[in-house]
Amino acid sequence: MRLTVNLVDRKYDVIVEAGSIGHIKEYADLRRKVMVVSDDGVPAEYVHSVLSQAEKGFSVVVAKGEISKSLHGYETVLHALLNNKFTRHDCVVAVGGGVVGDLAGFAASTYMRGISFINCPTTTLSQIDSSIGGKVAINFDNTKNIVGAFYQPECVIADTATLKTLPRRHYINGLVEAVKAGLIADEKLFEVFEKNDIERNLEEIILRSLNVKKNIVEQDEKESSLRAVLNFGHTIGHAVESLHMDEWYHGECVARGMIPMTEDKDTVIRLKAVLSRLGLDYRITDDPQRLFDIMTHDKKAGSDFITAVKVRKPGQVRLVRISYPQLRKIVEEAVK
Ligand SMILES: NC(=O)c1ccc[n+]([C@@H]2O[C@H](COP(=O)([O-])OP(=O)(O)OC[C@H]3O[C@@H](n4cnc5c(N)ncnc54)[C@H](O)[C@@H]3O)[C@@H](O)[C@H]2O)c1
Ligand SMILES: [Zn+2]
Repeated sequence: MRLTVNLVDRKYDVIVEAGSIGHIKEYADLRRKVMVVSDDGVPAEYVHSVLSQAEKGFSVVVAKGEISKSLHGYETVLHALLNNKFTRHDCVVAVGGGVVGDLAGFAASTYMRGISFINCPTTTLSQIDSSIGGKVAINFDNTKNIVGAFYQPECVIADTATLKTLPRRHYINGLVEAVKAGLIADEKLFEVFEKNDIERNLEEIILRSLNVKKNIVEQDEKESSLRAVLNFGHTIGHAVESLHMDEWYHGECVARGMIPMTEDKDTVIRLKAVLSRLGLDYRITDDPQRLFDIMTHDKKAGSDFITAVKVRKPGQVRLVRISYPQLRKIVEEAVK
C-alpha cells in the first residue's frame, strides 16, 4: 500500500508492504552513493538487502539504544559521509527503529546543509509513529530530542516483514501509539484492537495509524496547535517515563497515561480491555506529588494550568486547559 503525505511545499510516499526492503530500488533512487545507517540490534540482513541494490553502497552501524542519539553517534555518521566523499547528490538510508531514523535523519538534514534521506523503519513504533512527521533529532545534556530539525524524507519504506524479528516487548510498545491513534481519530482502528487478530491485521493497523498522523501533520506541519492531539496520553505518560527510564518503554508509559485522560467511563473500560489484551500493565503506582511536580516543572513561572488532550469516546478528542488543582486531582485519582 502506498500513502502520499502532502505538505505545503513537497510530498512524499510511504510504502507499507511486507518484503518492500527487498526491492527498495523500485521505490527509491539508489543510483548514487548510499549510506545505510543502522544499529547493532537490527538484523544485518536488512542492511545487506539495501546495500545489494545500491550502485555504490556504504554502511555505518552504531550501538543500539538511545545512547546513539548523541553528538558522538551524530559524529560517527558525519565521519562516514565525509570520509566516503558523499556530496549533495547522494543519500542516507536509515534501516532500523526510531533511534536510527532520528539519528540518520538529523545527520542527513545537516550534512552539506541537507542531503536526501530515505527512511526504512523496522520497529512498530517507528513504522507507526516516526515515519510521518519529519521530526529528526539527537539528545544533548540529558535532554531528549533537544537538537534537531524538521526534515522530510524522500520516501519511507515500511517493510512489515521486518517486524517478525522484533522482540515481542518492542512490538507491543509501538502498538500503543496505534491504540492512541484509534482513540483520538479512528474508532474502527480502536475496534480492530478490541475484536480482531492483531497480527493478521497488522498492515491495516499501521496504515490506519499513519492516516491519522498524516491528516493531522498535513494540517499542522510545524506543530503549532492541532498536532498537539497526538500527545494524548503523553502528559502523564512522560512523567511516568521519567521515573522509570531504564525499566519501562515509552509505549508502556503512554498506556498508563491514556487512562486518566479518558473521560467517558465506558471508554475507560474498553481501553483497559485493549491494553490487557496486549498484555500491558496500566497501573500507576508512583507518588502523585512527584508526578505532579514533573508535569509542572517546565512551565513558565506564574502559569497555573496545562493544556491537556482528553478523549471522551474513540474519535472524540479535545484540547483542554486544566488548572493545577484539577491536574493534581487527576493524578491522585490515577494512582488510587
Ligand atoms: N521522529 C519522530 O517523530 C519520533 C516519534 C516517536 C519516537 N521517536 C524516537 O524513536 C526512538 C525509539 O524508537 P524505537 O522504539 O523504534 O526503538 P529503537 O530504535 O531503539 O529500536 C528498538 C530495538 O529494536 C532493535 N530492532 C530494530 N528493528 C528491529 C527488527 N526489525 N528486528 C529486531 N530488532 C530490531 C534495535 O536494534 C533496538 O535494540 C526514541 O529515541 C524516540 O525519541 C521519534
Ligand atoms: Zn509517543
